[in-house]
Amino acid sequence: MNKGTIMSGMRPTGQLHLGHYFGVLTNWVALQSEYDCFFSIADLHALTTKYDKTEDLAQNTLEVALDWLSSGIDPEVSTVFLQSMVPQTAEIHMYLSMITPQTWVERDPTLKDMVKILRDNEGGNADVSYGLLGYPVLMTADILTFNAEFVPVGKDQVAHLEISRDIVRRFNNIYSSNFNEPKPKLTEIPLLKGLDGQKMGKSFNNDIKIADSEELTAKKIMGAMTDKNRIRRDDQGNPDNCEVVYTYWKIFGSKEDVVQVGTDCKAGKIGCADCKRNLACKVNDHLREIRTRRTELAAAPEKVKQILLKGSEKARIEAQKTLNKIKDSVRVFR
Ligand code: TRP
Ligand code: SF4
Repeated sequence: MNKGTIMSGMRPTGQLHLGHYFGVLTNWVALQSEYDCFFSIADLHALTTKYDKTEDLAQNTLEVALDWLSSGIDPEVSTVFLQSMVPQTAEIHMYLSMITPQTWVERDPTLKDMVKILRDNEGGNADVSYGLLGYPVLMTADILTFNAEFVPVGKDQVAHLEISRDIVRRFNNIYSSNFNEPKPKLTEIPLLKGLDGQKMGKSFNNDIKIADSEELTAKKIMGAMTDKNRIRRDDQGNPDNCEVVYTYWKIFGSKEDVVQVGTDCKAGKIGCADCKRNLACKVNDHLREIRTRRTELAAAPEKVKQILLKGSEKARIEAQKTLNKIKDSVRVFR
């Protein structure tokens, strides 16, 4: 049976939070049995903006690997690898960069956002590097390396992928080849909001990390936003105005829990502090196994490294085949 191929990746920016977990990782885990999956820790992509802040790069790479593996990405089933350990992709990127019109990358809205954030953070005078401009081209090379058909990503990556499709189509036209034009595969699960009701992000101080301790998780949840109109414990509440806590209940509690919380809240029978304390227990229950696995793996970094080395070796075999095909298509002498 010929399974379809999936490729996706994440930049190693540090420990992952529950937004990553529900938004991306659960999706990847579910796809593993249906497709041949290639999951890349995109450390070269991290360098497109953080080329001068590499002191944490290796550690962050390890942290992401720990989060993936403990969340159920199975290196015996999927190929889990490091982008910088597959040099063929960098070479494929080079061929793609030749045929990509400059205007295409300059128009990429996600890239424009990245540039804006970069400029804002650096006081308006950060330079956009040549490499950053190539962000969507490098992503295309990542995907093309495995001739993947589907790319499971969040909404924010769709603009890049649009360009990827255009680049692959152009390559196919110019060189009469037939590589797949990759399609995004969006998650059904809506994005999990941060504890303040805004987008969850590590720089916003509103996230819960997979790696957080149970105590820290509880402490963070106790500080979550609730129905602002509820001041005293016996005030009648409205769970639908309690965007964060009530939504989390719907994810982490049973159906009965959700009904119970809703009724008690409306009747003013439960205080928000108790409600959040109970929720924290549910969240911790949900994550306990993952966290135990993570702690075990974190104590054996050599083992994690071996997994990445082995995965990258597997990835390189596929990558070399594709590179040969690309060279043949372009008709370079070999
Ligand atoms: N740009 C993606 C992100 O920031 C990470 C990534 C790198 C990626 N290469 C990829 C995603 C290839 C999908 C396919 O999340
Ligand atoms: Fe939200 Fe629970 Fe307070 Fe109701 S009791 S407002 S659901 S935290």
